[in-house]
Amino acid sequence: MLIFNPDSDPALAAQLTSLLDAQAGLLEQRRFPDGESYLRVHSDCTDQDCVILCNLFHPDKRILPLLFLADTLRECGARSVGLVTPYLAYMRQDKRFKPGECVSSRPFARLLSSAFDYLITMDPHLHRYHSLDDIYSIPSRVVQAAPLIAHWIQENISAPLLIGPDSESEQWVAQVAHLAEAPFQILQKERHGDYDVSVSLPDLDSATQHTPVLVDDIISSGRTMLETIAHLQAAGLPKATAIGVHGIFAGNAYEQLTKVADVVTTDCIPHLSNQIDIAAPLAAAVRELLAETVTPPN
Ligand code: R5P
Repeated sequence: MLIFNPDSDPALAAQLTSLLDAQAGLLEQRRFPDGESYLRVHSDCTDQDCVILCNLFHPDKRILPLLFLADTLRECGARSVGLVTPYLAYMRQDKRFKPGECVSSRPFARLLSSAFDYLITMDPHLHRYHSLDDIYSIPSRVVQAAPLIAHWIQENISAPLLIGPDSESEQWVAQVAHLAEAPFQILQKERHGDYDVSVSLPDLDSATQHTPVLVDDIISSGRTMLETIAHLQAAGLPKATAIGVHGIFAGNAYEQLTKVADVVTTDCIPHLSNQIDIAAPLAAAVRELLAETVTPPN
């Protein structure tokens, strides 16, 4: 197996390569003077199972070189080409809210489905879609962060009260709470704009002895977490811990959040808040999906 990492997460690529007993795919990438991408594969891919770890945060700058690489690996004789992207972009654009809006999750899914044999990701934002199969036509595997987050909470927080800031977070928060044997509450959120959200008041009557732990799949502008934390502060609760599976931290979101909470993320997206290691379950998923989708040679 060859693992290629086009410029997104060398640390995770090294971990996966070692856990999967694979070889690092050798790649040369640069820009022509006019800004177009140059790509050259130096590894011999003939009859190899090739895995591309390309983490699709900030996807627009990564997608074209990624598609070029997948196509080149096939032309060089790869037996299979799979994609591992711990963060799957564009999943939040799952509905046309206003006439003429692009429901970007769908064309993005068609693009990736046309290029890869399979897809592995971590907790994609499944809100209006029930599963990736609703829009992806290739086999996929979703790796869950809940067991890792629950373990981290048990090791680091005493008497946690888990809080999910909106209805779609219930799928993660309920599972983390169950595994960590902690109580949880789910709030209601309304988003009025990119930086404008309101979150309902938590029921904090019985919470004074607990440490609030917010859990969400994505922290982007940080507004969802900040609004929720403001309620907790107003009620006089101890400093909250905000845990995100995918810490995107647009703009100064991280700086704002660290003023009011301890911020922890999985290493789905490389960031100094990373404390929860995802490499082992990701590697296990690659093994399983390869075994299911790729026919062994005679
Ligand atoms: C969407 O509902 C997600 O689950 C997150 O709550 C959301 O993406 C967080 O975004 P932001 O940090 O911009 O409030």
